Amino acid sequence: MLSRIIDETSNVLRADGYLPGLRLNDLPEVLFPFREEDIAARESFRYFNRDAAHLTLEDLHEFASYFDKLRAGMDISEEALSLHVIDNVGLVDPSSGAPTAYRYGGGTFRARTLNEPIGRESLYIQEEMHDAGAVLFFVWKLSFFEGKEMRDRYYRDLMILSGFFGHQCSLLASNRGIKGTVFAGLSPIEFYSVFQNSEDEIPIFAFAIE
Ligand SMILES: Cc1cc2nc3c(=O)[nH]c(=O)nc-3n(C[C@H](O)[C@H](O)[C@H](O)COP(=O)(O)O)c2cc1C
Repeated sequence: MLSRIIDETSNVLRADGYLPGLRLNDLPEVLFPFREEDIAARESFRYFNRDAAHLTLEDLHEFASYFDKLRAGMDISEEALSLHVIDNVGLVDPSSGAPTAYRYGGGTFRARTLNEPIGRESLYIQEEMHDAGAVLFFVWKLSFFEGKEMRDRYYRDLMILSGFFGHQCSLLASNRGIKGTVFAGLSPIEFYSVFQNSEDEIPIFAFAIE
């Protein structure tokens, strides 16, 4: 067992992965518009209250377009990674009447087709995340990485990058006085059973916003 762990770990450390070549410090400053106070003031929350949510569609677009600028600035294609949103309060479509899932792309939110309605028992291990106004989550396309031995070499990088995007969302929230938290995100089992045509995707981490 121990030798297997050592082998697999050294294999991952030797691998090229996604991160080498990515130089965060080289990103244009406009992608890091935060002040030191935002970093100091950033905090996480465990509980949310949908009825107290002040989130607007404009806020949602701000998070989404910031994510997209960051993704593109890091040379990650929209094919490889897309931002998704569970909208619990009908910001995108007030007539939807139920939590709705969207994929963000080209500046707009497009509804994902679901096999079943999103309920209290759906999607997350921490059911209190359903009390957020919206949950942003990061979806990677598996076939994009297949030729690159994604499972061995890339999974750890995708986790690091998703954690980074979650953290940046947290800084943006802090900067805008919005309550939010990075969390483990959608359980893959729930994701595959609820989202249609999701076999080629994997969700990693999420950001809940009140
Ligand atoms: C990648 C990542 C995943 C996290 N997952 C969870 C989670 O599943 N559930 C949860 O309650 N908090 C989660 N957190 C929040 C951390 O528990 C929280 O950030 C930590 O307590 C530090 O608090 P701070 O963010 O206010 O500094 C996660 C944070 C990160 C960065």
